[in-house]
Amino acid sequence: MEYYTIILILLSILSWVYIFITQSNHRLSTRLPPGPYPLPVIGSIFKLGKKPHHSLATLSKTYGPLMSLKLGSTTMIVVSSREIAQEFFSKHDISFSSRSIPYAAHAHDRHKISMVWLPVGDQWRRLRKISKEHLFSITQLDASQHLRKKKVQELVDYVNNCCQNGKAVNIGQTAVTTTLNVLSNFIFSIDLAEYDSVSSQDFKNLVGGLMEVGGTPNLADFFPVLRPLDPKGLLRSASFYTGKLMAIFEQHISKRLKERRTSSSDHHEPSSSKDLTDLLLDISENEKSSISIDDIRNLLFDLFLAGTDTTSSTLEWAMAELIHSPEKMSKARSELEEVMGKEDKTIEESDISRLPYLQAVVKETLRLHPPVTFLIPHRAIADVEIQGYIIPKDAQILCNLWAMGQDPNVWSDAQTFRPERFLDVGIDYKGHDFELIPFGAGRRMCPALLLAHRMLHMMLGALIYRFDWRIEGMKPEDMDMTDKFGITLQKNLPLMAIPVKV
Ligand code: HEM
Repeated sequence: MEYYTIILILLSILSWVYIFITQSNHRLSTRLPPGPYPLPVIGSIFKLGKKPHHSLATLSKTYGPLMSLKLGSTTMIVVSSREIAQEFFSKHDISFSSRSIPYAAHAHDRHKISMVWLPVGDQWRRLRKISKEHLFSITQLDASQHLRKKKVQELVDYVNNCCQNGKAVNIGQTAVTTTLNVLSNFIFSIDLAEYDSVSSQDFKNLVGGLMEVGGTPNLADFFPVLRPLDPKGLLRSASFYTGKLMAIFEQHISKRLKERRTSSSDHHEPSSSKDLTDLLLDISENEKSSISIDDIRNLLFDLFLAGTDTTSSTLEWAMAELIHSPEKMSKARSELEEVMGKEDKTIEESDISRLPYLQAVVKETLRLHPPVTFLIPHRAIADVEIQGYIIPKDAQILCNLWAMGQDPNVWSDAQTFRPERFLDVGIDYKGHDFELIPFGAGRRMCPALLLAHRMLHMMLGALIYRFDWRIEGMKPEDMDMTDKFGITLQKNLPLMAIPVKV
């Protein structure tokens, strides 16, 4: 064995022994929430399994809705009930508003600049304020609704085409393409994705590749001592995809800067008719200290990454549930026909408030299949006492939304898809009703909730208004409805369905 390898192994063993001793002392000296007794060094890593949201839900039945686990050198706190979630993200929100950063997020040092990973501080506040006041304000969303309407019409055209040719639609991929183009038109005023594209280098596949890396468990997150070895090469892969995507953003921003220099008119247009790139460049020029070009590049990156899989996987699940329950599909379509008539009209964002059943379908989908299953990991910035236990400084906080959606104390017949449960009750996902927080709650809540709300209802409404759907050679009740865990919660088997005009 080489000298270098022996040194590395010795160093690892020494660090692990050190970690084990300090962990044991820590457990004794603090009152951690209950949890499985950890094995030496590795802790409870093997308890996570392939579907951690399921395994942790099962463990919380034994140890309770506030549970602790040791995973290597990390202390993980798992929240699995409405009451405990409220303690963390309302009562003690400030103490838990920082992030526990996975090693792959260190690619291109993005953890030091991204809104998703920055701790709560001046720079993060600046970015959130810009998002709230300029990017996702109701005025801005109203002004850009024609863009979403156009992209949704293109989705309908694509489905119509498949319908005429009797071709099955890959619902997940179609949803990704539409979501990316809605976002890229909102951000850059161009399309970045194509239906039926297969190139591995195109934007859609680069985003998909990076999401896959982010969803792969990484030993380096549990054993920081292994970071220099980059086991499984996840940091390397993340750097590859990040580099390619950053180059695309760089190109678009440089082009826009050049156009702005040659044409002075841009600057005088009303802000409501500008895309996000122009809005951000205006802010950067007018309020010099507020946001740099590098910040803009990273912010746009965050919006694409955080917005694509979340929206598209929700849409795929909603369609899967509706095809699985044809009577719910008919009910949702009847409501659309009642509100919009039976001619081929294009759904408008102003129609959403008149579609309570469609809204209930979206809520029920997010209850059963929350795409960001554990929220984005939070971190305790100080020791905090909750329900007599100590949540230690630097513990990683995971909120198991999937387990909360299955809680029999809150939801009757919890495993059944029943949108009716949301009719005539005031439960919403805006962060006040802690039984349903698919967008999070408190300071770190999704800044784009209003945009996601509009996109989801528009796309889902368009897919079911004038189409029925069938799965070739399969009855609805035989469909595979299992999930697989990744950075977002996905369907295990992609949904392929044939549209039929109604
Ligand atoms: C169905 C759609 C979506 C769902 C369910 C969703 C859910 C979430 C959740 C759970 C978080 C983390 C909250 C926490 O850690 O406490 C989050 C954060 C975030 N989301 Fe969304 N999201 C969706 C769509 C979008 C879209 C369309 C965008 C942008 C265009 C977006 C941008 C972001 C950003 C930038 C963050 C990080 C905020 C921060 O850390 O301060 N999301 N989202």
